[in-house]
Amino acid sequence: MKVAVVGGGYVGLVAAACLSRSGHHVVCVEKDEKKLAMLQAGEPPFFETGLAEIIAGGMAAGTLHFDQTMKPHMHAEVMMVAVGTPSRQDKGIDLSHIHAVMADIVEYAARPMLVVMKSTVPPGFGVNLKDRFLVRARAPIGYVSNPEFLREGFAVHDWYNPDRIVIGGDDPGAVNTVAGLYRGIEAPVLKMDISSAEMTKYAANAFLATKISFINEIANLCELVGADILPVAGAVGLDRRIGPEFLQAGLGYGGSCFPKDTCGLDFVSTCNGYAFNLLKAVIEVNNRQRVLAMRKLRLALGKLHNKTVGVLGLAFKPGTDDVRESPSLDIIRLLLDEGVNIRAYDPLANNKAREVLPPSVFFASSPQEAAAGSNALLAVTAWPEFTNLDWFRIGSLMKPPYVVLDGRNCLPAKDIAATGLYYLSIGRPPVSGNDKCKKHFGLRLNQAL
Ligand code: UDX
Repeated sequence: MKVAVVGGGYVGLVAAACLSRSGHHVVCVEKDEKKLAMLQAGEPPFFETGLAEIIAGGMAAGTLHFDQTMKPHMHAEVMMVAVGTPSRQDKGIDLSHIHAVMADIVEYAARPMLVVMKSTVPPGFGVNLKDRFLVRARAPIGYVSNPEFLREGFAVHDWYNPDRIVIGGDDPGAVNTVAGLYRGIEAPVLKMDISSAEMTKYAANAFLATKISFINEIANLCELVGADILPVAGAVGLDRRIGPEFLQAGLGYGGSCFPKDTCGLDFVSTCNGYAFNLLKAVIEVNNRQRVLAMRKLRLALGKLHNKTVGVLGLAFKPGTDDVRESPSLDIIRLLLDEGVNIRAYDPLANNKAREVLPPSVFFASSPQEAAAGSNALLAVTAWPEFTNLDWFRIGSLMKPPYVVLDGRNCLPAKDIAATGLYYLSIGRPPVSGNDKCKKHFGLRLNQAL
């Protein structure tokens, strides 16, 4: 089939590439000139395992092209919309990019076409879109909701291994056409009405966010009652009705989806006269976890003014350079407000973070450089390289009181404390440093600097 995918972001580009690999003739429309130039040179503007190779294959086979505008591609049988629907200031959902695409379709479409909505839109939006835009087109335009569930860092894997394919539409022919796009992919195909498909996306993300905020609440309570969240979460997660995933306590969720979708669903609820109190609590708990890091450091270091904190991890999760809504950025801003000197390091995200943080933040080129001269070291993103550092060397680079705050419970607590460092985490008892070893830090510190 001839498919036009509008939007060359995480969702649109992966969809365009994988659909071209299935033999469809795909054009991916990306209006950002810089991104478009990279795509036309066969370079994806972000890293996803396997994506560059699929793009190269599609371009070589002539089944994948990139363009800047939709107008020349109105002969496409399927117009897949994958443009951003970011949060607005009022926590509503900015649908302006989608409205622009719909206006183009109304203006230029002269042949029957099927609009497939991949972007996350509020429940009820699709039905509204048909009445507001599509009925005014000069040709019959179908509409189907086909939300995606891709995770950043695993997008190509998730495209070929979805837990389910959700298709919302009121025309069985259109729904089957979309199901045909996924031929060869083994997964249940769930056909439903448009609004239910839209709600499915929000409900799935809101539930995953709920699991995270729930385990963070339990972790915070563990600290007050002397329990340890790791065995608790492990045992709870073995219940097959609960499952172990998304039960890792830490400094909260970030990324371009959970924060946007939880706030978006809360906004939609309010607009429909419903107080979704559980969701409000999920959002509030997540925001509070950022403050928790600052409070723990204040308790451990005393006054924060003029202290130095090394921050390990800037991306919202390991394996990506994406810093959107990253807890790390919020925590750094809170610490800067208190007069803390920040030395930050991330294996991939230093440059993206530099674009959105004040110039006073020092960007280190290694965990050791971030630790040098720091009173405390804060791990915010669970990068594997942070789990096997030479903690004695780290301690010798630091300054008293040699605090390590493990914001993702991903560091080796006993090894760290054995070197004399004072280990703090989320939902676990503190592990005080070995005083004998600590005496050597002063000595090593002179040697190390
Ligand atoms: C998420 C959904 O998983 C995906 O299905 C949807 O399509 C898009 O949103 P993504 O945002 O890429 O995917 O990241 P994900 O891996 O889900 O993690 C989201 C955030 O939750 C990260 O900041 C992560 O650190 C945090 N998280 C995740 C926790 O704090 N604890 C956990 O147990 C799991």
